[in-house]
Amino acid sequence: MRIDRPHDQERPLAQTAAHERLARYRAVRRATEALIRSLTPEDMGAQSMPDASPTKWHLAHTTWFFETFMLTPGLPGYRVFDPRFGYLFNSYYEAEGPRQPRPARGLITRPSIADVLAYRAHVDAAMERLLTAAGEGPLELLDLGLAHEEQHQELILMDILHLFAQSPLSPAFAPPRPPLASVPTPPLAYVEFAGGLVQMGHDSGPGAPFAFDNEGPRHRVWLEPFRLADRLVTNGEWLRFMADGGYERPEFWLSDGWAMARAEGWRAPFYWRESPDGWRVMGLTGLRPLDPAQPVSHVSYYEADAYAAWAGARLPTEAEWEHAASSVPIEGNFAGSGRLCAQPAPAGEGLRQMFGDLWEWTRSAYLPYPGFRPAAGAVGEYNGKFMSGQFVLRGGCCATPAGHVRRTYRNFFYPQQRWMFSGVRLAMDGA
Ligand code: AVJ
Ligand code: FE
Repeated sequence: MRIDRPHDQERPLAQTAAHERLARYRAVRRATEALIRSLTPEDMGAQSMPDASPTKWHLAHTTWFFETFMLTPGLPGYRVFDPRFGYLFNSYYEAEGPRQPRPARGLITRPSIADVLAYRAHVDAAMERLLTAAGEGPLELLDLGLAHEEQHQELILMDILHLFAQSPLSPAFAPPRPPLASVPTPPLAYVEFAGGLVQMGHDSGPGAPFAFDNEGPRHRVWLEPFRLADRLVTNGEWLRFMADGGYERPEFWLSDGWAMARAEGWRAPFYWRESPDGWRVMGLTGLRPLDPAQPVSHVSYYEADAYAAWAGARLPTEAEWEHAASSVPIEGNFAGSGRLCAQPAPAGEGLRQMFGDLWEWTRSAYLPYPGFRPAAGAVGEYNGKFMSGQFVLRGGCCATPAGHVRRTYRNFFYPQQRWMFSGVRLAMDGA
């Protein structure tokens, strides 16, 4: 039997795709703008260190990305909002020409916030036209542009926390949460893995969902038997490391780490502050008493590695982490959960906190996988050119937008950096 179908059944399909693209684009752009609701123009213009950027710069740079890589090449008749913005808001793309030096981004007092929001509106209006009208070609970079803006949502939170941590007033980005119920820390246990020949990395076959280029190609690796801690290291455990001379005993430290710890006077994690009534921790809800049950956050690779040595353990490799995560649901304390990086370790069974809460340092150098080729053109500079001197972190954190990470997702930072939401999961050899 033949069912009567409307003759234009193909059109709704194309319209659905356009509708879905528009909805995703709007949701990501509005989520960025939601982050600035509690910020003043002064907050948004300041740059607290060379690694951090003003919020205003993030708002404009993500917009420049869509303008430069999608609208200028892909939307006929597109008018660039202001040709001077390329110099101001190009981050690191050599192929796009010279740029404002990164440490001087805080000196850009013009354009104003209002001008930058007008820039966003101009680009959004043009993106609406592109996303409604375009065929596949010009849309190739939509997923990258959206994932890029999500990365900058997390960077806005990292950079605001760093800025607010410089203020003697310890401002809160968000109102303090009601006092958290004190959750007893479950004893740390290790989950055993037999290892063997396993696959890792993103499989970018036809129809594969988006992933960054650095997540592939999928390839085989050999794993010796290993054990992975079932939760993150807590503040309470870190206090024991400190009490045992963790920051004073070179035998736990890598040579570069020891030199850095001495030179910078490290004696606790980045945002810990000593007070007459004990340690406090600066966070997005302001300066709060240290919670021993909460996972320790804002530690460098060097500190994470020293802690592991003190604990008689080591950091996991990224292959071990990814293998262990293969059957773990991608759920956890991500941004938007309302918990705002202030939740103690939840009790539970099996591997906990693999996704969300804190980025987990691995001992793997951030290197290309076998067969990795960066994309042609300027966007080929996105990840590949940073594959020197950095370490991989896995799993996302409480400042990462929900839905952003994958099991194969590779974040990367230099071993001395501490302003990201980084934590520690221990591993050991042998099952
Ligand atoms: C993956 C967080 C190290 O901050 O440079 C932003 C993210 N890439 N714009 C960075 C990124 C391009 C990247 N990290
Ligand atoms: Fe960027």
